Amino acid sequence: MKEHKVKLAILKQLSAGGFHSGEELGQEFGVSRAAISKHIKGIQQWGVDIFRIQGKGYQLAAPMQLLDESILKAKTHKPLELIPIIDSTNQYLLERTEQLESGTVCIAEYQGKGRGRRGREWISPFGSNLYLSVFWRLDAGMAAAMGLSIVVGVAIVEALQAFGIQGVKLKWPNDLYYQDRKLAGILVEMSGQAGGAANLVIGMGINLRMAEQTAGITQPWTSVGEILGEQNFDRNLLAVELVNAIHQALDDYELHGMSHFVERWNPLDNYLGRKVKLIMGNREIEGIERGINEQGAVLLETKQGIEAFIGGEISLRGQA
Ligand code: ATP
Ligand code: BTN
Repeated sequence: MKEHKVKLAILKQLSAGGFHSGEELGQEFGVSRAAISKHIKGIQQWGVDIFRIQGKGYQLAAPMQLLDESILKAKTHKPLELIPIIDSTNQYLLERTEQLESGTVCIAEYQGKGRGRRGREWISPFGSNLYLSVFWRLDAGMAAAMGLSIVVGVAIVEALQAFGIQGVKLKWPNDLYYQDRKLAGILVEMSGQAGGAANLVIGMGINLRMAEQTAGITQPWTSVGEILGEQNFDRNLLAVELVNAIHQALDDYELHGMSHFVERWNPLDNYLGRKVKLIMGNREIEGIERGINEQGAVLLETKQGIEAFIGGEISLRGQA
């Protein structure tokens, strides 16, 4: 077995619950107890909290539901690959756009190099969140790509609502917020043009049951688990709903453009009517946020009136 295959098999055993001794796991996978102990350390480096009690063995600190490729494939409508351990699901698809059918999905349990906008890191511990990307050949071309994070953001919030997760809002252009804390992020990347069409990858990371003590996140964040409290939810079914919602939104966008997404975005805008600042390099503009327009630009009311801003280099920040 390849090294991470043993780790994944150990995780499968542990995710069933209870204690599992090094001896039992060693016998199961044909390796020594020392090798199991090494694998456990490797799994811990993926961000999984496992503890050991002398005489009993190893146990997960929190329950974990693994993703199941057969369920994901059966309930979605485009090619899908579950690659448990990956650098970045966006990167994986970007490197393969020539061979892939538009709509292909890549989903992972752990990303070693998950990324956000402008090369920022997306913290991606194993098994506790969702990391998924969709390859899309956009016939409308590059110019229409800016609208994609808007369209996909709206679709994801609506899918969460249908799943019973209420109160999630959008922060222009690519984040999902709950009570002013970041729940999820969307990253749209391009790999170039083929004819008039643009090859795009739309990635989404959403926190589900990420441990509170997770290191490396520099701003307030939350998770679906925190929103739902003790209420249980099925991670595979949530992934299915989100993938299907993204596909549906992309089809809609190809057919109808941004127009009917603007009215769906504005009531969900976390900063609508609130004082914000836009940061563009070393320039900052303050104003009242007034939603978005049909190009997907954010509208800011300043002393000069209402102005539209658009571009990958702009960051929006709430003001007290
Ligand atoms: P903007 O895109 O408007 O500049 P941003 O600060 O949210 O805003 P992004 O590039 O969108 O920046 O997102 C990356 C940031 O998100 C990281 O710098 C980090 O602080 C934060 N982050 C990383 N991983 C997670 C996570 N799993 N959950 C919540 N936030 C995260
Ligand atoms: C952001 O808030 O800046 C966007 C974060 C996007 C994270 C997702 S996780 C799946 C996909 N693969 C990546 O490397 N990034 C996106």
